[in-house]
Amino acid sequence: MSAGAWLVTGGAGYIGSHVVRALQADGQRVVVVDDLSTGIAERVPHRAQLEVFSVLETRELAQVMHDLHVTGVVHLAAKKAAGESVNEPVEYHNENTGGVISLLTAMAAAEVRRLVYSSSAAVYGEPVDDNPLTEASPTNPTNPYGSSKLIGEMMIRDSAPALGLSWAGLRYFNVAGAGAPDLSDTSANNLIPMLLRARAAGRPAKIFGSDYPTPDGTCIRDYIHVSDLADAHVAACRLVTDEAPGSGVILNIGTGRGSSVREVIESMSLALGDQLVAEEAPRRDGDPSVVQADPSRAAEALGWRSSLGLDDMTASAVAGMGWLESHGYL
Ligand SMILES: NC(=O)c1ccc[n+]([C@@H]2O[C@H](COP(=O)([O-])OP(=O)(O)OC[C@H]3O[C@@H](n4cnc5c(N)ncnc54)[C@H](O)[C@@H]3O)[C@@H](O)[C@H]2O)c1
Repeated sequence: MSAGAWLVTGGAGYIGSHVVRALQADGQRVVVVDDLSTGIAERVPHRAQLEVFSVLETRELAQVMHDLHVTGVVHLAAKKAAGESVNEPVEYHNENTGGVISLLTAMAAAEVRRLVYSSSAAVYGEPVDDNPLTEASPTNPTNPYGSSKLIGEMMIRDSAPALGLSWAGLRYFNVAGAGAPDLSDTSANNLIPMLLRARAAGRPAKIFGSDYPTPDGTCIRDYIHVSDLADAHVAACRLVTDEAPGSGVILNIGTGRGSSVREVIESMSLALGDQLVAEEAPRRDGDPSVVQADPSRAAEALGWRSSLGLDDMTASAVAGMGWLESHGYL
């Protein structure tokens, strides 16, 4: 890799703070741009320079790339709540779709040509027959969040030849766990944080749908440990190179193994040393029964495979409970 810096947008966020640490551990110099809308400044290590502004500020972004000798970008900055995006479609397209337009404009101006982009399994929408999902499976996002991620991929792909970009779009499946307690997931929407919140509030956890065509009747998802995901970014940063302008790849980042809601609850109970109380509730609209990745293309392209399992994810989430509580997230 070159001696230039990697710019991590959204580097003060849950996934971004893990990516920043993984890149630093790989010996890279890292610059973070984050507007701190959901990010936490203290999560950015001192050795990484933090610039606080929105990626929508194109001129400022190009200036930072130029002044801090950025030679590649990991673009994580985005709004990510699929449910919220249904009620706030314009905001989601402004931040996410607009964010990619601004980023590509700034990269062109600063002549930065390597890009790793945070995409999501949300681009697939409701899988029809394909499970596990391959990168060739149909993309039919069912909400503006998923659309914005897919449009981002398309804009990068379309721009790559003219801008000389070498790029990788990483479609993350369900991200969970933490590399350290102070990097825990603070969001309200994912299953594991929801289980922790319900327990802290003394409420039973809700199982949305117990009549799915799965072995125990509950939805199955492919959970990937955030530390494994961060390592996949380091491998992707090695893959994108100035020697291959115009080339790009889309990769599923998951484990290839699915876990049901009941299995996650059992694993959490084990980590807590205390049986979680759960109650069955009706299905939620648009929840597919099984979403599972075929990660073989990522294994081939990146030489990367996940190494941590569900119990590692739940144990590290439980280890972060004290931090979440003391910072008002539980
Ligand atoms: N968490 C998941 O399960 C998951 C799954 C698939 C994809 N993703 C994607 O991964 C990325 C990171 O997600 P996360 O879970 O770490 O969320 P997060 O909210 O913790 O991180 C997003 C970061 O981006 C920053 N940000 C948002 N808009 C910005 C803007 N306009 N300019 C500058 N900074 C901005 C936020 O302050 C925050 O630090 C997102 O692109 C998300 O869509 C996440």
